[in-house]
Amino acid sequence: MKAKVALVTGGTGGIGTEICKALYKRGARVVAGYNGGGNSAAALAWQAKMRELDFNIEVFYGDVSNFESAAGLIEAVEKNVGPIDILVNNAGITRDTTLKKMDLINWDMVLRTNLDSIFNVTRQVIQGMMDRGFGRIISISSINGQKGQFGQTNYAAAKAGIYGFTKSLALEVANKGVTVNAVSPGYVATEMVKQMPEKVIEQIVAQIPVGRLANPDEIARLVAFLAEDASGFITGSNFAINGGQHMY
Ligand code: CAA
Ligand code: NAP
Repeated sequence: MKAKVALVTGGTGGIGTEICKALYKRGARVVAGYNGGGNSAAALAWQAKMRELDFNIEVFYGDVSNFESAAGLIEAVEKNVGPIDILVNNAGITRDTTLKKMDLINWDMVLRTNLDSIFNVTRQVIQGMMDRGFGRIISISSINGQKGQFGQTNYAAAKAGIYGFTKSLALEVANKGVTVNAVSPGYVATEMVKQMPEKVIEQIVAQIPVGRLANPDEIARLVAFLAEDASGFITGSNFAINGGQHMY
């Protein structure tokens, strides 16, 4: 059977890397999307490192916060690798500060990167998936989109927006073999969390019943499960994976 083509946006980041590896291990042809401020050096170094570990993963540039750039990314992947069967909307950023201090730039950057990106990328692949009768769309939201977080009005709003998008699109494509789901990790040991002050991380870990941050591969295995052919009855859902920090 022909290998499925998977695109993971933010594929060279902390969680993205493990998602790429998990999909590759399950037989997909995997493409990692990167931004890197338009510079490919870090992405190429990442690709070489993956090859040393026996993961043969392609890297393609695209700023997913920008519709035209996202269109260019999809066009390049479909031309050079093939039509996309599995899309993981994983790219994201934080710009934490309380609303009273938040400027328009930090609101806008987070909304464009974490929410507009879901439209910018998914819009380019949805018709093809419907025409071919198969697709898996998995968007990475966050525990903080579910519960809110001090200093994250921008991020929590964007991540909560993913739920409405997911449920609505799931309805539109359910009879075409395309599933649409969200995954909401709690705090994961990646650069995004490590850039917070040590003291704040300690306070957060104290709120996690499992008693630690997640490892990125723990998130990746859930994403890979949702991407399987056999997961076709799972759609319009959100999967919390947060060590018990928020139960609903
Ligand atoms: N709860 C209650 N009060 C808090 C607080 C909290 N969590 N955090 C800060 N405060 C208080 C401070 O004690 C301070 O009080 P005083 O003014 O009385 O001294 C006041 O709020 C500071 O307010 P500021 O407006 O000055 O805050 P700030 O602009 O400096 O930003 C912050 C504060 C850095 C955002 C801080 O609240 C913080 O680190 N919050 C956590 C953010 C967080 O969890 N980010 C997650 C990043 S990783 C990620 O997002 C991945 C994921 O999906 C899980
Ligand atoms: P990370 O290591 O910082 O990775 C983020 C990735 O997003 C990077 O690869 C980055 O690419 C990419 N990216 C950022 N802006 C982009 C843009 N405009 N266009 C294309 N790619 C862009 O963070 P992470 O922890 O792995 O986060 C991955 C996802 O999980 C994010 O959506 C995040 O919100 C979510 N999440 C994380 C946690 C956590 O605790 N870590 C918890 C819940 C949800 P470049 O480096 O090439 O710019």
